Amino acid sequence: MPVKSRTPYANSFAMALPDREISNDELSTFIDTSDEWISKRTGIKKRYWVSEGTTTSSLAVEAASKSIDQLSNGTQIDAIIAATLSPDYSFPGIGVQIQDALGLPPVPAYDVRNQCSGFLYAMEMGGALISTGVYENILIVGAEVHSTGMDKTTRGRDIAVLFGDGAGSCILSHGKRSGLSFELVGTELHSDGAYAKELWCEHPGSVLFPDRLTEELVREGKVFPEMNGRLVFENAVRHMTEVSLSLLAKHGYGSSDVSLFLPHQANLRINTMVAQKLGLNESQVFSTIQDYGNTTAATIPIGFTRAVEEGAFTSGDLVLSAAFGSGFTWGAALYRVV
Ligand code: UT7
Repeated sequence: MPVKSRTPYANSFAMALPDREISNDELSTFIDTSDEWISKRTGIKKRYWVSEGTTTSSLAVEAASKSIDQLSNGTQIDAIIAATLSPDYSFPGIGVQIQDALGLPPVPAYDVRNQCSGFLYAMEMGGALISTGVYENILIVGAEVHSTGMDKTTRGRDIAVLFGDGAGSCILSHGKRSGLSFELVGTELHSDGAYAKELWCEHPGSVLFPDRLTEELVREGKVFPEMNGRLVFENAVRHMTEVSLSLLAKHGYGSSDVSLFLPHQANLRINTMVAQKLGLNESQVFSTIQDYGNTTAATIPIGFTRAVEEGAFTSGDLVLSAAFGSGFTWGAALYRVV
């Protein structure tokens, strides 16, 4: 493997959403919940759910095509890194489906499954592959379809009101491309598997013998995600704050150097609390949760896409991103806008 040190830049952010908008009021027609409860506890006003025929990989491909369209003619994609917890199939992962649907040559397709931290894990891996000279341009995608995998009855309301479907993507390259580019200054990642069962989807999986799926498990709802919401909330606030401060310090910065905080979108209150602990003001926090809910691996690239569209970045800005989720896994990334 060639050993070089080159700066990775994230370019060409893009996103894709399904066509079905689901408001909190619509959810309240089939789940015992209310717009008031959801808005107050999470900040979410609506989310998008797929119709038949739209899948995690098709959303990923739609976003990725938009990212690739922004590149200059002749730019080759050398590798794909796709992050999702909701692939179309148990295996293979969506990376190969993206490669095929985009008509790319037989480039490597990595599948990352670190849930809400998936995009940050993909960026760290992609950044290392760019800086060491292994690849020139890597397509990074975060995509999810949650809506078909949740218990959409009152039994599952603590989860069902939170999650939405969507995809976001960018191209990580060793150089700046046209439009706004984001120099990847650094990343920091963590995990603690002692908490794996606090936010998980237990079945189907190879833990069961002799068969990994039974009618009883389906009836009991054991095929749906489960979460210890309070514990996840507290850990998210603590770890996102700590990892942000640690990453900033490693690169000689403090939180007063941050221009914009663009975190994972799980709960508006989590992000407000982290921002307060970092000493950032409300206008420095970029939020999309009100429009899309929690799209897990897609929240951060969707956030970047929206922030670019809304003119939220200025050249020279230091942008902080952080995420926390199932695993537990968490991390932060730091970018300089150029
Ligand atoms: O991205 C992955 C990481 N995920 C997260 O970071 C999520 C972290 N957790 C959270 O965001 C919050 O814990 C939730 C939004 C999930 C829940 O908010 P909470 O303030 O922690 O509420 P809770 O779970 O303590 O429930 C409070 C009450 C309960 O009723 P009682 O026992 O007080 O009568 C719940 O049964 O709210 C009830 N409840 C609901 N009511 C209406 C729970 N879900 C709902 C609902 N609609 N959807």
